[in-house]
Amino acid sequence: MSVWCRRLRYVWLNGRIVECENAKVHVLTHALHYGSAVFEGIRGYWNGSNLNIFRLRDHMVRLVNSAKLVGFNLGYTVEQLVDATIEVIKANNFKEDVYIRPIAFIGEGGISLDITGMPVEVSIAAFPFGKYLKAEGVKVKITSWRRIPSFSVPVMAKASGIYLNSIVALREARREGYDEAILLDWRGYVAEGSGENVFIVRGGVIATPPITASILEGVTRDSVMRIARDEGYTVEERDITREELLVADEIFLTGTAAEITPVLEVDGKPVGDGKPGPITMRLKEIYQNIVTGVDVRYKNWLTPVY
Ligand SMILES: Cc1ncc(COP(=O)(O)O)c(C=O)c1O
Repeated sequence: MSVWCRRLRYVWLNGRIVECENAKVHVLTHALHYGSAVFEGIRGYWNGSNLNIFRLRDHMVRLVNSAKLVGFNLGYTVEQLVDATIEVIKANNFKEDVYIRPIAFIGEGGISLDITGMPVEVSIAAFPFGKYLKAEGVKVKITSWRRIPSFSVPVMAKASGIYLNSIVALREARREGYDEAILLDWRGYVAEGSGENVFIVRGGVIATPPITASILEGVTRDSVMRIARDEGYTVEERDITREELLVADEIFLTGTAAEITPVLEVDGKPVGDGKPGPITMRLKEIYQNIVTGVDVRYKNWLTPVY
């Protein structure tokens, strides 16, 4: 039995709900060899009476766009993918926080690098999930691996092959005792974490790298920029230099899995006084209230399952 099937009973695969044990692929699946797949990471939050999926539609729009950038068609509309996600969570009857992992991949189509006409498979799995990074804050290393530039691959796509970049970067950071890696872009400006976007605070102004810094355009990044601006903060999308990380008052990472995670140290040097900063903590609190449905100002970001 797959270890996954202890955590989930059903998976949505190519339009049908199937038993977890039957959600399998062949070893000659194209995507396994070449990373020819696009995926999403989405969270659902159980608030005691309902499970709310955070920005579900926006994630599915990015999934469809990712496939377009890589050069294949998913074969499902955003609405169908939204409905399928709700269907698979209901089938599993989850009543706790979940992580949702849709993936669209090139299936058994041979070994050619020309994916024209090859079969595309789509699956959506969900499983109970807690914290991804240490909630109290992380120590990061500016890794020696640079973020793949957007002139080599469409990095705006959340494509599986691109994640080898994240894997080697995080491997280096963890081996040296850090929690997370921050990658610079090909020019030497800050790009992002292995699975998160980066924000800094200097003199009360919040800044985050622009999409021209080869980043993934994070849904959480967008949410945080909107929340911060609504709270009256100035938020700049601009290039951030490596040395700014070392003199920032606050740094935090954003991502579906990481949510809002304070950065306590960069390359062994404390950020500010080495404790999570006030703006980081304020945004973290608001974000938590939004995803659980307590703060109703952004309730159109939530899709209730039940
Ligand atoms: C490389 C990378 N950057 C940024 C993010 C943050 O994106 P989001 O907020 O949409 O989860 C992720 C996570 O999905 C990621 O893998």
